[in-house]
Amino acid sequence: MKKIVITIDGYSSCGKSTLARQLARQLNYVYIDSGAMYRAITLYFIYNRVQWELPEAVAEALSNIELEFVPNEQTGFSEMHLNGENVEHQIREMLVADKVSDVAAIGAVREFAVAQQQKMGAQKGIIMDGRDIGTTVFPHAELKIFMTADTAVRVERRFKELYAKNPQITIQEVKENLERRDYIDTNREISPLRKAEDAIILDNSNLTMDEQLDLAIQWVDDILLVQ
Ligand code: DC
Repeated sequence: MKKIVITIDGYSSCGKSTLARQLARQLNYVYIDSGAMYRAITLYFIYNRVQWELPEAVAEALSNIELEFVPNEQTGFSEMHLNGENVEHQIREMLVADKVSDVAAIGAVREFAVAQQQKMGAQKGIIMDGRDIGTTVFPHAELKIFMTADTAVRVERRFKELYAKNPQITIQEVKENLERRDYIDTNREISPLRKAEDAIILDNSNLTMDEQLDLAIQWVDDILLVQ
């Protein structure tokens, strides 16, 4: 069966990774969470007190960063390794979420991440989610999905996820972080979050996970029919 490239872009906490994982499982494709790369770079910058407003400091730091997606035997999904260390948990913390949009807006950081992402897709049979995957990373992808959902729905989902790990967190904090990230991601100069012209919009505010998966599978089937 012919393999294709599927891109999923959209705002923070729309459920992109949930859909991507389900699709990957169903199609037996590789799932790559491109945001994890920006998060791991941010974690490195924070830990090493990199002054990311200085281009030389960024270049030097990037030359010391090695990112790798290593499959977790139990889940079957890849986890982010930074210089050989599994950082999958640390990169999901608020400390990183607070800074990642600023780091992801730096040109040199994007060039570094995008070059690696494009290599990963060379064999096809891949689903990658992020903000610029359908526009910049894989502009010729066969299926591009642009996900969106009402802000209130997204805040609620993200809050539930973070509250389970940290009961101190407030809904206001989550809302502010989400809105700030959406603002920076949409307004940055390089590769801002945009719907690719040929992307299909998937608003999942009122869809169950099964319903959105069925829709996406239908789109894949339609594309494979004409390939
Ligand atoms: O998808 P996420 O929330 O894990 O992404 C973290 C941040 O990384 C997000 O604020 C925007 C940035 N990002 C990006 O600029 N481009 C991508 N392809 C993926 C993520």
